[in-house]
Amino acid sequence: MFNFFKRRPKMDFEKKITSPDGRILLRIILKSGHLSYVLFKDNKQIVKNSILGLKLKGQKPLEDRLGIVRGAEKSFSETWETVWGEDRLVQNSYNEFAIYLTEVTSEGRLLTLRFRVFNDGIGFRYELPPQPSFYRVEIEDELTEFNFDLNSYAWKIPAYQPDRYEYNYEKAPIYDLDNSVHTPLTIELKNGLFASIHEAALYDYGEMTLKLDHWKALKADITPLSDGIKARVELPFDTPWRVIMVADSPLGLVTNRITLNLNEPPKEDFSWVRPLKFIGIWWAMYVGEWTWASGERHGATTEHAFEYINYCKKLGIEGLLLEGWNGGWDGDWLANGRTTDFLHSMPDCDLPRISAYAAKNGVKLVGHQETVGYVDNYEAQLENSYRLYSGLGINYIKPGYAGSMMTIQGNREYHHSQLGVLHYQRALELAAKYHICLDVHEPIKGTGIERTFPNLLTREGARGQEYEGGALNPSHACILPFTRLLAGGMDYTPGIFDVENSVKRLSSTLARQLAYFVTIPSGMVMAADRPRFYDEVNPRAFKFIHDVPTNWEQSIPLFGKIGEYYVVARRERGTNNWYVGGVTNDLARRIHLDFNFLPPGLYNVELYEDDESAHYRDNPLALKIKSFEMKSGDGLDVYMAPGGGFAMRIAKV
Ligand code: NOJ
Ligand code: CA
Repeated sequence: MFNFFKRRPKMDFEKKITSPDGRILLRIILKSGHLSYVLFKDNKQIVKNSILGLKLKGQKPLEDRLGIVRGAEKSFSETWETVWGEDRLVQNSYNEFAIYLTEVTSEGRLLTLRFRVFNDGIGFRYELPPQPSFYRVEIEDELTEFNFDLNSYAWKIPAYQPDRYEYNYEKAPIYDLDNSVHTPLTIELKNGLFASIHEAALYDYGEMTLKLDHWKALKADITPLSDGIKARVELPFDTPWRVIMVADSPLGLVTNRITLNLNEPPKEDFSWVRPLKFIGIWWAMYVGEWTWASGERHGATTEHAFEYINYCKKLGIEGLLLEGWNGGWDGDWLANGRTTDFLHSMPDCDLPRISAYAAKNGVKLVGHQETVGYVDNYEAQLENSYRLYSGLGINYIKPGYAGSMMTIQGNREYHHSQLGVLHYQRALELAAKYHICLDVHEPIKGTGIERTFPNLLTREGARGQEYEGGALNPSHACILPFTRLLAGGMDYTPGIFDVENSVKRLSSTLARQLAYFVTIPSGMVMAADRPRFYDEVNPRAFKFIHDVPTNWEQSIPLFGKIGEYYVVARRERGTNNWYVGGVTNDLARRIHLDFNFLPPGLYNVELYEDDESAHYRDNPLALKIKSFEMKSGDGLDVYMAPGGGFAMRIAKV
């Protein structure tokens, strides 16, 4: 700790902080009253000098004439246990430096920047302490720069678009970014390093998107409210953490847990939260067999629900999603959202009877709520609907926000604006009160808050299989692990066996549909096809979906190249069984697996592999299923067809 300065605080100062392993170096620079930072790994530059500061409405920018009052340094290390997730134990070790600043002017406004340096990246945030002259503030702009070499490549999806995060990724040099993009923004640097810019603990603030500022540097672009203000806050206030993950290879990004680590442990007991595998009254609507709307082909009827509950029992699947039954959401998706009635189901959907039958058969229901983004209408019913559902034993809800904007307090707001963020949070905390777990579609992006609120079991928030039938290509699922999934699990809706359906033809082989259960982590996982197809297409392949868990002890990514292939091994939580999944783009690959990650012993292996004749375009169902014994340390070649993949279950003998 520094002493308080008796005289004028110094406007020149520099501090170096390194990661616990010494490989990452962060330099915090105060020069003539301007604050900035620079980032290196192993002496290779990651981020060049980057400005820090805030613009507050009606005041002059808080970035000038800053002087240091004191600095505080600390080191921290813990291992904490997740309620569910990709790993049971998470290591959280960092060196921290907080720089307490005051403006060297008569106003003397105060600002603190807190930095944490981990072995695999950094986090920092702005803290606005109580001020002598004001306590409410409107953030007009955040000046934070991420000054990467503009020749580096980034995998981007556009921000402020009608389909929210549901776009295909494009790889382009940073100098090519013409519009704002979402984070995580994953970057391949010319010096061979990989990085991803993201944020953690997004509460009560607009989401950070990124834009290229005057063709000079990547800069934070905080999502505005409809009146242009980025956030209205009361002091003391901390912004979300700005995160830069850093790795030697793409796989090094995948194991990064900084975003979770920058969130707080839960404040209540969440031991009631259980991950869930479920089937759904869902894909039948996408392929046009049934409808969300009422009428002859209505999907979510009492009769269909009973039929699907029977399927749950037959298939050994624990849960069932009922979708398209909220009163009044009936045919005109967008317009009906204004007045949807979440407290009454359609007449042919007898919720009490369905839930009684589900309970009798030990099946957990997932209730759907399509808000279309009409938050005002939804919030008026939110707590009553949670009370109603939990009273019926429905402890899982899939809310959706499928509008291009949200309607909040009568205004059209971005989903990822401060008011959108506040809504998602209110819903999540209220859900916890009723012991309800959420699978949020059209969500706010993940920023690790499921550490604090583990009832947030999964989100969508990227293009998932609902875009099959033309709008997905095989590289997409090879990009997600290095981009979107750095922000947490995803409801990708895997497990479609009717791959060649004429309405929704998949760009996937059958083996790949199994692989997704391992390559795309999610606390709630839907086996998304109409259940009769599991028997009709390949009941032996369905065994993998039956067996695969939704909660992991440990995850070890094995191979990966962004957009080309990805292979990961995971151990089931609570057992000695391992699962391996792999996906490839439109190129066939043979990979060599070394089983030295397995503890010593003999194992039974079930391998679900593309046949050599398989191809996602014209022969997607050609699948080989092999069982054999293997020892830890053994090796094995596995084949993936174009648009294919493989899945493997490894059980200790
Ligand atoms: C979009 C969601 O992603 C999808 O799962 C859902 O079926 C539709 N909206 C209708 O709510
Ligand atoms: Ca969606």
